[in-house]
Amino acid sequence: MQVASNEGVTMSDELIYLDHAATTPVRPEVMAAMLPFFAEKFGNPSSLYMLAQEARDGVAEARERVAAVLNCRTSEVIFTGNGTESNNMAIKGVAAALRKRGRHVITSAVEHHSVLHPVEQLERDGCEVTIVPVDSGGRVDPQSVSDAVRKDTVLVSVMLANNEVGTVQDVAEIARLARQRSEELNGELVIHTDAVQAVGKLSLDTKALGVDLLSLTGHKFYAPKGVGALFVKRGTPMEPLLSGGGQERQRRSGTENVPYIVGLGVGIELADAERNEFVERTGRLRDMIEAGIMERLPDTKINGDSGHRVSNITNLSFPGVQGEPVLLGLDFKSVAASSGSACSSASLEPSHVLTAMGLSPELAVGSVRISLGRLSTEHDASSVIAAIPEIVERLRSM
Ligand SMILES: Cc1ncc(COP(=O)(O)O)c(C=O)c1O
Repeated sequence: MQVASNEGVTMSDELIYLDHAATTPVRPEVMAAMLPFFAEKFGNPSSLYMLAQEARDGVAEARERVAAVLNCRTSEVIFTGNGTESNNMAIKGVAAALRKRGRHVITSAVEHHSVLHPVEQLERDGCEVTIVPVDSGGRVDPQSVSDAVRKDTVLVSVMLANNEVGTVQDVAEIARLARQRSEELNGELVIHTDAVQAVGKLSLDTKALGVDLLSLTGHKFYAPKGVGALFVKRGTPMEPLLSGGGQERQRRSGTENVPYIVGLGVGIELADAERNEFVERTGRLRDMIEAGIMERLPDTKINGDSGHRVSNITNLSFPGVQGEPVLLGLDFKSVAASSGSACSSASLEPSHVLTAMGLSPELAVGSVRISLGRLSTEHDASSVIAAIPEIVERLRSM
């Protein structure tokens, strides 16, 4: 992305930002919608007077925008602090509410750490956990999830789109088969999906997906960092993580972050309205980048499921070359990319996603993730096509 002057963001004109799966800038429409709620309409939504009513209206309108994209009731949308909180609330909240029914939880090997670590915490607290494997493209076989369901299984959590390789899971089929199996066993099962990387890329129709819980976070779709949402289907058993003033229908106490919630509402509405155009545009640029790099470096491995992945992410491994020096070389050329998940990008540990897909540890530390955004251009693609082979060839010759 070369930052256009009308974007109003302070990023160097030179920077080619190709790390949109890590985070995105706040877009001007979102910023404009948020601004009045900082100093003008600053009331606490829980108060009685007119000023508070304005804040309440802001939150209510945002909830309507989210509910429209998720095809759900407004009462089924809870605002949270981020995607990590939404995932933690879903996992720990359901396990706590259903602990008398069962203590078995199923997830996949390629989840974000904000799912895997809460699940590990449950395991330390006495739950049993099944981690379903993935194939070489990072896909979960829906049948293997259903085969893992037991009478005491209370939660299945499988992400919609992977943040490192972009692989999309068949969440609708996973939910259908797992629920069917649980019903046969007379169990009580809740289905959660982490849809953080899917907003503006895939349909988030919760009815079509057949899920009970769905997580998202503002900063992946041009709204601010530090605000998220969780869809909670009516009747889903879930205890709150935070208790206190009873906001968000007792499910998430704490005074609402009104400006950020307003921003998230506008961000998701725009991202979903622009989805087809975004997918077409980023898919074309992604294909161009992959073809251009393969032409110069034919032994490049493209990680992920080519038939089932979001349009804006490509994850590449270069045999014999580590990811980190490639990223440093790119940074030197003012290209921002990353090595998979943002939180592990500073570590030299092989990615748990790539190792679960069967990559050797050598290849799994050597991957580079390029993630495109709504303002990415052909110039950005050409720059990375020119830069990566040069860097990789130099590293190989050293
Ligand atoms: C798939 C996925 N889930 C959850 C998160 C966590 O979101 P947040 O950074 O808002 O806590 C991320 C962020 O990188 C993500 O990519």
